[in-house]
Formats: sequence, C-alpha cells, structure tokens
Amino acid sequence: MFVYEKKLQYPVRIKNTNPKLAALIISQYGGPHGELGASLRYLSQRYSMPYPELKGLLTDIGTEELGHLEMVGTVVHQLTRNLNANQIKEAGFDQYFVDHTAGVYPQFASGESWTASTISVSGDTIADLTEDLAAEQKARLTYDNILRFTDDPDVRDVIKFLREREVVHFQRFGETKRTRWNGTSKSC
Ligand SMILES: [Fe+2]
Repeated sequence: MFVYEKKLQYPVRIKNTNPKLAALIISQYGGPHGELGASLRYLSQRYSMPYPELKGLLTDIGTEELGHLEMVGTVVHQLTRNLNANQIKEAGFDQYFVDHTAGVYPQFASGESWTASTISVSGDTIADLTEDLAAEQKARLTYDNILRFTDDPDVRDVIKFLREREVVHFQRFGETKRTRWNGTSKSC
C-alpha cells in the first residue's frame, strides 16, 4: 500500500507562465521516456523479481518516480495557469487547450497519448534490469533536451533535480545488477 505525503519531493515554485515550454515538458509526464511509464515499469516488474533486494529496489524507485510524476504535473500546471486566449494562441498551445483546457494529460511532446507499449515487463531479471538502465538514460537525455529550451531558473532548478535523480537510479540499478547477477538469469 502507499501512504500519501502532502508535499512534493522537491519544491516547484514557477513565477512565469510559459505554455510553449509546458507542451514540451509534458513529455516527461506521459511521453515515451516519462515518469508515468517509469513508475509503472518498475512497480509492475517487481512482482516477478526473484530476489528480495531487487523487489525492494524496484518498489523504492517506482514509488519515487510517482513523486516525480507529481512534480512534472505541477510544473506543467504552473506554466499554464491563468492564461488568456491570446497567450494560448501565440504559444501554439491552442490544439492542446481544445482537448484538455489547462488540465494535465499524459501525452508525448508530439501530442500522442501515453501508451503502455512504451514500457517493458519481461519477467526476466536481466532483461528487465537492462531495460531499466536504458530507461534511466533516456529519461536523463529527455531532461537534458528540455534544459536546452529554457533559461527560466525556476524551471531549470526543478528539471536539474529530476535529471540528477535519473542518474542516481541508473547507478543503483547498475550496482544491483553487478553485485547480484552471477551469470544466470532467473525467471519466475
Ligand atoms: Fe528514474
């Protein structure tokens, strides 16, 4: 079970709206390398992991990714609140707005809806852990790409925090794979 803590893992306080940027950052909410997929990938893979420390690691990181999903959603919300019609149109946010108003919807930056086909749950320890290592790097690179498009310090601060956590997750998966795996993958 989960117990909800009524605060973000890291504070999000964005002063300036920027719907164009929000339409890019939403990819880390519901895009191909985003936090929704990350949390579901790990929280689903854990059931078939044969070793307790791997189950625990996937539960820890999957739960943290849910916290990151909440942070990204908050960034998108703060970048799109109190917009007027002109701002929406000028930013090219009108297509999103027609479907979702200023709600936070899980989609790619390209507009495609989130799909479970962006994640893998193979039931094989090594296949899943190798997938997870790659997934963390793809999340890291998406945050790097987002950082290319903003100089707003309020946004950069949060995105840099999230980027750093992906690096930490990559390291934790790598350490676990190295120390636990003895050369034979175990499925169950
Ligand atoms: Fe991660």
